Amino acid sequence: MSAARLEDQDRCMWVRSLIFCMLARVVLVETDLVHCVMDKGDENESIDYLLPIQDTSVKVQHPKISIEGLDRFSDEGDHILKNVSLRVEAGQIVGIIGPSGSGKSTLLRAINRLWEPPAGTIFVDGEDITKQSVVSVRRRCGMLFQTPTLFEGTVADNVKYGPSLAGEKLTDKRIEDLLKAADLDPSFAYKSVIGLSVGQAQRVALARTLANVPEILLLDEPTSALDPISTKHIEESVLHLNRTRGLTVVFVSHSLDQVRRLADVVCLLANGQIVEVLTPSELDNAQHPLVRDYIAASM
Ligand SMILES: *[C@@H]1O[C@H](CO)[C@@H](O)[C@H](O)[C@H]1NC(C)=O
Ligand SMILES: *[C@@H]1O[C@H](CO)[C@@H](O)[C@H](O)[C@H]1NC(C)=O
Ligand SMILES: *[C@@H]1O[C@H](CO)[C@@H](O)[C@H](O)[C@H]1NC(C)=O
Repeated sequence: MSAARLEDQDRCMWVRSLIFCMLARVVLVETDLVHCVMDKGDENESIDYLLPIQDTSVKVQHPKISIEGLDRFSDEGDHILKNVSLRVEAGQIVGIIGPSGSGKSTLLRAINRLWEPPAGTIFVDGEDITKQSVVSVRRRCGMLFQTPTLFEGTVADNVKYGPSLAGEKLTDKRIEDLLKAADLDPSFAYKSVIGLSVGQAQRVALARTLANVPEILLLDEPTSALDPISTKHIEESVLHLNRTRGLTVVFVSHSLDQVRRLADVVCLLANGQIVEVLTPSELDNAQHPLVRDYIAASM
């Protein structure tokens, strides 16, 4: 398929999702996220920085995220996640790969309770997330989806929305900083979201998530609908946020190249189980037969 056709298709998908949004006003999951993401931030939070610098240098007592013996059965009784355990250290970027249907998205969604995990299975900074309010969990764990869903209005309207629910008014300077962090020119602030490419829309979605000052970013195939240039913008933003602010990132990807570019650690999920945990450079030496097949098929 030619690049132009692909671009058209992307735009189509994006326009369709926008129309859906306008009709429904805001898609359910987005409403859920955006409404739940914010609670009142620190009143004295400086607006000079984008995200607080997280101290990853000291030996922390707890991993940033700890998943312990997580099981999930589907309504039909299928065992989707089987006794999954995983530690993610503060400031790490963890990539999750595996065949479709292996439970990748479910695992990611459990971390911010889009799918409600059983009590005592997921801990952030050592605290059971099911014991905290959904609002604070979603605030700490921002999420990007495969297809961005923005609502009608300007780019700035979208970025300001989460904080405004908590009564916080973002300054123009902060909106500009958030756009820059998402690798978008600040001049986008007052553009309508209609007419953005899907790649630009995804970067607006990233800026909107960052406006909620997350400690953890969850990315569910965030670039699979994007062209290579937009993909590069998103990846560079994520790497920059990780390196400068210690942001912890867990992402699902079907692209081994992306995993090689982004991840410190790769988890290979097959049939609901983490079958291997490797560094990207060890990928070619994966042992598990399902994983070897998957990697061979991805070349
Ligand atoms: C904000 O700063 C003021 C003055 O320094 C202080 O009295 C107040 O407790 C601070 N508020 C918060 C939420 O930290
Ligand atoms: C789950 O995994 C842990 C190790 O991660 C193991 O000790 C435990 O026995 C497993 N439980 C079941 C039911 O397989
Ligand atoms: C993310 O940041 C941490 C802490 O600075 C660093 O150790 C890690 O290598 C970074 N990850 C990537 C993929 O650059």
